[in-house]
Amino acid sequence: MRGLEGKVAIVTAASSGIGKGIAKVLSSEGCIVHISSRDRAKLEKSAEEIRKETGKQVNAVPCDLTRPADVTRMLSEVKKKSGKVDFLVINFGDPKVAPFLEITDEDWDSSMNMFLKSSVTMIRSILPEMISNGDGRVVFVTSLTTKQALENFSISASLRAAVVSLSKVLSIEYAKNGITFNSISQGYIMTPRLESIARRNAEKMNISLDQAYDAIRQGIPARRFGKPEEIGHLVSFLCSSDASYINGANIQIDGGVVRFPL
Ligand SMILES: NC(=O)c1ccc[n+]([C@@H]2O[C@H](COP(=O)([O-])OP(=O)(O)OC[C@H]3O[C@@H](n4cnc5c(N)ncnc54)[C@H](OP(=O)(O)O)[C@@H]3O)[C@@H](O)[C@H]2O)c1
Repeated sequence: MRGLEGKVAIVTAASSGIGKGIAKVLSSEGCIVHISSRDRAKLEKSAEEIRKETGKQVNAVPCDLTRPADVTRMLSEVKKKSGKVDFLVINFGDPKVAPFLEITDEDWDSSMNMFLKSSVTMIRSILPEMISNGDGRVVFVTSLTTKQALENFSISASLRAAVVSLSKVLSIEYAKNGITFNSISQGYIMTPRLESIARRNAEKMNISLDQAYDAIRQGIPARRFGKPEEIGHLVSFLCSSDASYINGANIQIDGGVVRFPL
């Protein structure tokens, strides 16, 4: 155990995949976890599943990160329920993946709301209390697109890079207050989203789903996909006091996909 018992965490975009894996690990470490995403039914089901598995308090708070009013409402609901937030884990939904000229102003606006505006609103709301507690952790969950440019990923690459830079600046501003800001750049993690990408590839290339998975796996030195809980373990470490000197870092967790040494 990492000494996280009784700490209060928010994990966004957490009804499935990576966010849910993070929530599960934090809950198993004894945190009171508030999970959010758009679909209330899916969210409640995931909260119930985690509660059953860990026996801890897991609260479902619906919130669409592209809607600023939702973010404000989610924060006030969490504060009303728990009174404080020790760990803010900012995970995101999927941005549109398309050639640059097929991306509309509306796509950019809603993505800027999801990545930047929601991050700013959440941090601004929670930071003053972290400062007065002299403690707090903020972890952004981004993507390997922050490290490696991919065709058609202009929204993901540019806005996640913005979030990583925001994390870095805040880590410098608030280190003296005992608060750390770090970001994670994950590679291929086995989630419903990865399955839908593999299905799309299979259809496009007229191959089986297994062959489509194999084609992705070939590019991963570890020759396997990551598990959502593996991201969860990294997050719980970053939230623990063992990681109090890790600040402003962007940590790759990708089975060796990104080849650049620095
Ligand atoms: N899996 C990978 O290999 C991989 C690799 C690199 C980066 N990523 C990124 O990691 C993040 C999570 O991906 P995942 O693989 O875990 O996907 P996933 O299994 O499809 O889960 C996505 C989660 O985001 C929520 N969500 C989607 N849009 C949202 C919005 N506007 N506001 C709030 N919540 C929203 C979804 O719930 P609702 O439908 O209920 O809203 C769901 O809980 C994404 O940003 C993805 O691009 C994933």
